[in-house]
Order: sequence, then C-alpha cells, then structure tokens
Amino acid sequence: MEIEGVKVGDKVIEGKTKVVYEIPGTPHHVLLQSKDRITAGDGERAHEMIGKAEISTATTCAIFELLNSAGIKTHFIKRQGKTTMVTHQCDMIPIEWVTRRVATGSFLKRNPGVKEGYRFSPPKQETFFKDDENHDPQWSYEQCIEAKLTAGTRLIGQCEIDIMSRTTVTVFEVLEKAWASLDCSLIDMKIEFGVSPETGEILLADVIDSDSWRLWPAGDRRLMKDKQVYRELKVVTAEALDTVKRNFEWVADRVSQLSPKPHARAVVFMGSPTDMAHCEKIRSACKTFGVPCELRVSSAHKASQETLNILAQYEGEGIPTVFIAVAGRSNGLGPVLSGNATWPVINCPPITADWGAEDIWSSLRLPSGLGCTTVTSPDAAALAAAQILGLHDHVIWSKLRSKQLNTWIGLKEADKKTRDDK
Ligand SMILES: Nc1ncnc2c1ncn2[C@@H]1O[C@H](COP(=O)(O)OP(=O)(O)OP(=O)(O)O)[C@@H](O)[C@H]1O
Ligand SMILES: [Mg+2]
Repeated sequence: MEIEGVKVGDKVIEGKTKVVYEIPGTPHHVLLQSKDRITAGDGERAHEMIGKAEISTATTCAIFELLNSAGIKTHFIKRQGKTTMVTHQCDMIPIEWVTRRVATGSFLKRNPGVKEGYRFSPPKQETFFKDDENHDPQWSYEQCIEAKLTAGTRLIGQCEIDIMSRTTVTVFEVLEKAWASLDCSLIDMKIEFGVSPETGEILLADVIDSDSWRLWPAGDRRLMKDKQVYRELKVVTAEALDTVKRNFEWVADRVSQLSPKPHARAVVFMGSPTDMAHCEKIRSACKTFGVPCELRVSSAHKASQETLNILAQYEGEGIPTVFIAVAGRSNGLGPVLSGNATWPVINCPPITADWGAEDIWSSLRLPSGLGCTTVTSPDAAALAAAQILGLHDHVIWSKLRSKQLNTWIGLKEADKKTRDDK
C-alpha cells in the first residue's frame, strides 16, 4: 500500500487519532498518519472532523521543526504529505508529561483552594500513566520508577525520569517563548517520549498540536484556541464543531510564523587580517546559536574615521547588533567602538603566550563612561553575543537553552554509564 507517496508495510499501531506504519527498506523509520477524528475524555466523546488530519499534521510538523532546529532530540524527521510525517520509530514510554505555567482545568479539581490563574515558576510538572481504562491516573515519579517500565533497551529508572522531566520543562519554555512572540500564552502542555531502538536515546515523540496544550491569545481564557473548546461543548452541533475546526486552523496558520529568520546579528571588527582565524572561530560558534555573523577589518588606531563610519552604517540599519572587537596588543578598537555605540561591545582579544597577560589590561581598564565587556575565547564571545540577542529573539534563546539541556543530559548519561560499567 502507498500513502502520500510512501510505500508502507505493516501497521505498527492504530490509536484514536493516528495510525503508525512501517516503512519497508528503512527499518528504523515509521510513517505517522493523522486521522480526521477528534476525541476527548479518553475517547468518550469522539467526532469525525473533515480536514483535521491535515491541520494537525501542519501544526505538529511546524512545532517539531522548531524544536529540532533548537536542538531538542525528537523523533521527527520530515513532513511527508498533507496528513503524514516520517519519524524515527520509537518504543513508547506510557507516561504523559504535563507542564503547567498557569493553574487551570484538572489541576484545580485535584488541588482545591488553588485559584485559576495561579502562576507556577518554575513550571509545574505532573506525570500520568497512560491507561485509558483507568482514566490515566496521576503517578508520582516514585510510582513511575517502581513500575519498572521498559522501552527498547531501557528500564525507566531515576536517570530516565530526570532526563524526561528536564526535557519537558525545556520544551515547554521553548514553545512558551515562541507563542509569546505572537502574543499568545501557552498555559499548559502534554507530551510523550519514546526510546529509539536504534540509538537507545530518549526522544520526544508522538505529536504536539492543538490537542496537546491550552493556548490563550493575549493571556485571555475567553479567547482560547485549543481543544478545551471541544471538551466544554454542552451539545456538539455541526456549527460548534466548525468553530473548533476554525480555531485549529487559526493555530496551524500561526505556527508557521513561530520560526522567523533572526532579526539580530553579531559584527566582528578585527584590527588586522592576521586575526582572521580567531574571528572565523567566533563566526562558526555564532552559527551554532543561529546568530548571523559578519566579519570586518578596521583598525581604530590606524583608520579611526573608517571604523566610526562602519559602526554608523551598522547602527543605521536598525538590526539589533552585538559588536565583537578583536585586537591584539593594545586594544583600542573595543573601547573606541564602545565609546561611540549604544549597542553592546564585547572584547575578545587574541591572547598570545608572550604578552597576553599584559595586553589584556587594555581591554579591562577603561576610561569612565565605557561599558564593554571582555572574554578570552572565541566560543565565549559567541555565547555572550547569543545571550544578549536571545533577550529579544526566542529562536536564539531556544538554541541556548537546548544546548544547556543537551550538556546536562550528556553528563547524566555519562554518569549512568560509569556506574553501570562498574
Ligand atoms: N515515533 C513513534 N513510533 C512508534 N509509535 C509512536 C510514535 N509516536 C507516537 N506513537 C504511538 O502511536 C500511537 C497512536 O497514536 P494515537 O494518539 O492515535 O493513540 P491514542 O489512541 O491517542 O492512544 P494514546 O492514549 O496511547 O495516545 C500511540 O500509541 C503513540 O504512542
Ligand atoms: Mg495519543
């Protein structure tokens, strides 16, 4: 059988809202096809909704593209067609991971006394065991561990729970920031994980769409655009279903705007082309954070007016910019830029073994009124620039956050392996 241009093999599993197929020839990939079906309350309420599969697929694919490009490890490979996507096959972990920024819904019932609107910082996490018959009971981390669940090669223990817990918060924060850029409040969210039998990695899996979150435009509950509208319907009329569908379409339309090209950049000024290799390292580190980076050669000592002209040109373009000054020996460049620009300047002098300890003072000891900062490695310069630009650019911010997450997971996995190898 062929679906949207892909020859599929056996059905791996069929659920309420999608079907998973094997793809012959690529054993570790599967095709996920969405259905034109909307359900709520563990399937007690269910309706056909023509067009929902396409809307859900568009939403999920845009969200996973955003998460993949941020650096979160997910099962998503590509959108295949209108209602399908290709993903890594996963052995699913039957736990729903819920994150909440604002208290609402079932949290209020389970925590009487807490008023709707209570804000959680850090976001509140809850875990539910996926068991439709028992209405997905809430489980503590201890219950999740004691259940000795297995997925692929992994036993779900403390390490796995910790990784999923931290990843869940990061995913929430990334999506919360993305939605905030369109003046929408992400109130809460549900995600699931699987284990790749190929690599043993824990991957964010399943789907993230209007079924997975509460989304309140302008933070106003009355404007909600998520499945809650369907859950709250007293009578499900064709007209009401159409409103739900139009909300979902509204979301699918907006998600395509969640990964804008960066409106930010770093500009590296070098006093001499002999520092090119050092500057190239800064540029390539900037790239990993999605920060466009330009290199310029200009000496504040030997071509002062030209340096100021170039500075004025960048400031005049209106793109938020961090300047990075690379000058050996006496760093006149960074302080001159800093004295004439209102945007941030970071000194990143190439340190030499002979005079480095003395030269650094020309970057550190500044006339009054100057506020340039100094770092001593190209990576640190790029990181500092990305952190400044990430203040207003959620895509850059997400890459920074995901990098921290992946470093943390790497350490956790290394520690687990060290202990297992003992
Ligand atoms: N990458 C993947 N590899 C294999 N199975 C997956 C993957 N991503 C999601 N699935 C599984 O696809 C199945 C079908 O999804 P669907 O959401 O329709 O199920 P469901 O009826 O809602 O059941 P559930 O309550 O388990 O979500 C689910 O069991 C889900 O865990
Ligand atoms: Mg499901």
